[in-house]
Amino acid sequence: MPTPPYVPPNEMPQVPYSRILEGQKAMITGASKGLGAGIALGFAKAGADVLINYNSDEKGAREIAEEVKRLGQKALVVKANVADEAEVLNMYEAMFDTFGRIDILVANSGIQINAPIDEMTLDQWSTVIDVNLTGQFLVAREAIKAFKRQGIDPSISSSAGKIIHMSSVHDIIPWEGHVNYAASKGGIMLLMKSIAMEVAHLRIRVNAVSPGAIRTPMNVEKITSQDIYEDQLLRLIPYKRIGEPDDVAQATVWLASDASDYVNGTTIYIDGGMTLYPGFIGGG
Ligand code: BGC
Repeated sequence: MPTPPYVPPNEMPQVPYSRILEGQKAMITGASKGLGAGIALGFAKAGADVLINYNSDEKGAREIAEEVKRLGQKALVVKANVADEAEVLNMYEAMFDTFGRIDILVANSGIQINAPIDEMTLDQWSTVIDVNLTGQFLVAREAIKAFKRQGIDPSISSSAGKIIHMSSVHDIIPWEGHVNYAASKGGIMLLMKSIAMEVAHLRIRVNAVSPGAIRTPMNVEKITSQDIYEDQLLRLIPYKRIGEPDDVAQATVWLASDASDYVNGTTIYIDGGMTLYPGFIGGG
């Protein structure tokens, strides 16, 4: 029998959700797995109905939709490549046909294609920028149009709409071998802040979450060896545990709710302190 791969323990405290998104309709892009799937479940626990967008993993998206329904909320599964304008417009039509409105957008879809700078092809560069940055622009633009049209309904929320952009600690930490990914995340920061500035007077709130290392399919190779996990990954995390999708979901639910009504144009780092320059611990 081969030894099963190493799995680091889940040390996240289990904090129940309160129903702070009751009655709200949310679109979550890239929700078939990883962070998007975790956020869809968190939103359902907080009382929101959700559109679960996927591009390639239909099975994953349908499984998450079933879980959302088991939690008592409505779920709609829609295939769309967020980098394709026509597909984004179709997804919004599906949102309005089913839910009649949109209150929250979580622009989460993202990919990584790694290569050293002198070997990175234009295609590897463009594909990551298209999905991670242009995709966030396209879905955010359509959300803003809808929020403007809908205005504020105080029985739903104190704001006319909320956007949460999925960024990364690599919006401020440079990442060798990942220049396309880091450039896309750095771009998201000023995309988010500039949209926030433009629409704040309409009571539309736009923020970002920037996770560090989280237990998602993107990070599988970093957590299937105890040596790599403890010697390489935990060295970068002062809090000394990997994050869980629910760590990100909890913060995203709060940012989408009226509990954060005065939070606008900012980024919440969910990283166990990864952005604290951990290389300086005991040195410098
Ligand atoms: C990446 C992960 C990485 C983390 C910290 C995230 O944006 O998706 O693969 O572990 O940043 O480096």
